[in-house]
Amino acid sequence: MKQTILVTGASSGFGLQVANRLHQSGFKVIGTSRTPEKHQKLVPFKLLTLDIADDSSIASFGKQLFNEIDQLDVLINNAGYYVSGLAEETSIELGRQQLETNFWGTVKLTNELLPQFRRQKHGKIITIGSIVGLIGLPNGAYYAASKHALEGYFKVLRFELNQFNIKVSMVEPMGFKTNVITNSVAAENRLADYDSYRKKIAKFSNKVFEDAPEPTPVIDTVIKLVTDDNPKFSHPVGKGAPLLLAIQHFAYKTFENSILKRIK
Ligand SMILES: NC(=O)c1ccc[n+]([C@@H]2O[C@H](COP(=O)([O-])OP(=O)(O)OC[C@H]3O[C@@H](n4cnc5c(N)ncnc54)[C@H](OP(=O)(O)O)[C@@H]3O)[C@@H](O)[C@H]2O)c1
Repeated sequence: MKQTILVTGASSGFGLQVANRLHQSGFKVIGTSRTPEKHQKLVPFKLLTLDIADDSSIASFGKQLFNEIDQLDVLINNAGYYVSGLAEETSIELGRQQLETNFWGTVKLTNELLPQFRRQKHGKIITIGSIVGLIGLPNGAYYAASKHALEGYFKVLRFELNQFNIKVSMVEPMGFKTNVITNSVAAENRLADYDSYRKKIAKFSNKVFEDAPEPTPVIDTVIKLVTDDNPKFSHPVGKGAPLLLAIQHFAYKTFENSILKRIK
């Protein structure tokens, strides 16, 4: 039987490309967007309404999903966004919203679907984390916190769901070309003490995203995970990702001494 796959945030970026590729490969794909009416005509798979930052949206989505399908084989938790800025210049409110979507939204949606996975006694949950869920870099402390939190949460879930034959994996991309920067929200405060550091970091961040490659390696990794019977947990993707991970304990010194010193 055709496997059914749910991709959250399938209107743009990684989610759109993953959903398109899965659809082309013959899987039954359901995608989500907060505004499916804007995107439905442009995609070949069904889009349902979902805002993972809104409890009532998650509840009504759950009902609607199981009107469309009887079985769910794979959940791809991809929806998310980026709050940029230095930590002290970012309001707690923006930070809270970041975790409300990226962490709590992902957890709540997963919880909504777990009863179905347990009943079926099989399933797969693939979550798009980030390289900054594994290491820390400046300019997005709450984003990094939300992605670190996802790592911890799913690391635990992996043990607890194994008895139901539900496999849990993370994909941790470095910077890739999507609409993540256009859709990002910037910190609103300015503290003069940070002026020169902020400028340097902004130059570094702009360069990372200007030079960012197309997302094909991320899409390939997710597709491979969908078809892998025994997937590993962690999948960092991007040039230098394995090296960054290997040196994660030295990441602070590497960044400060080598990368940042080169920015004038
Ligand atoms: N691009 C990168 O370099 C990079 C690196 C590491 C990790 N990531 C992660 O990859 C995932 C996808 O991001 P992307 O780079 O593809 O960015 P993107 O092009 O901006 O796409 C983000 C997707 O998430 C959806 N979304 C945002 N907020 C949502 C909410 N509250 N509820 C439901 N859906 C929501 C959007 O759908 P609608 O607006 O239609 O609702 C959109 O489809 C994110 O989790 C991001 O953190 C990206």
